[in-house]
Amino acid sequence: MKIAEIILDRQKIADRINVLGQQITADYRGKNLVLIGVLNGAFIFLADLARTIDLEAEVDFIRVASYDAATETSGSIRLSKEPELDLTGKDVLLVEDIVDSGITMTWLHDYFMTKHQPDSIKTCALIDKHERRAVEVKVDYVGFQLNRGFLVGYGLDYAQKYRTLPEVCALEV
Ligand code: IMP
Ligand code: MG
Repeated sequence: MKIAEIILDRQKIADRINVLGQQITADYRGKNLVLIGVLNGAFIFLADLARTIDLEAEVDFIRVASYDAATETSGSIRLSKEPELDLTGKDVLLVEDIVDSGITMTWLHDYFMTKHQPDSIKTCALIDKHERRAVEVKVDYVGFQLNRGFLVGYGLDYAQKYRTLPEVCALEV
């Protein structure tokens, strides 16, 4: 596998995240915002997004596994790290790298609604690959709508590789 092309460069990503941060700041003023990053893919996006939000937000993480070395979801999801903050009465914003089939995001939404008692739960994804959606899921804040192949970089991996690339790139498959 080789990197085929740069899909989103650093400037494009930064500009879009600034807009998302402004929207989130306006929408969550006066609320109890908790950003929950979905590990591992969202670690870079969350770090950059958090610094564009002009509010006192809390930060926590959850980790689920659904992909092994494959490029398509297995459909089965395993919780491997629970969030540790008390989310009762909080306004949870789930921060994901990418929503593809929608299975992971749907599972996460249900998990927060049944296992925690947040006041609200919304979702934010850097990339929405909506054409491959298998289950309907609403992504409240979307960075980019893309449908060009399998993406890596800026937190996104293929078999745990390429996460540290500063740009979002397409893999040659
Ligand atoms: P879904 O359950 O099919 O929506 O998949 C969501 C998860 O699959 C994301 O959190 C990613 O970790 C992973 N994923 C989906 N598409 C890609 C991709 O193009 N590159 C890297 N990871 C992906
Ligand atoms: Mg992920």
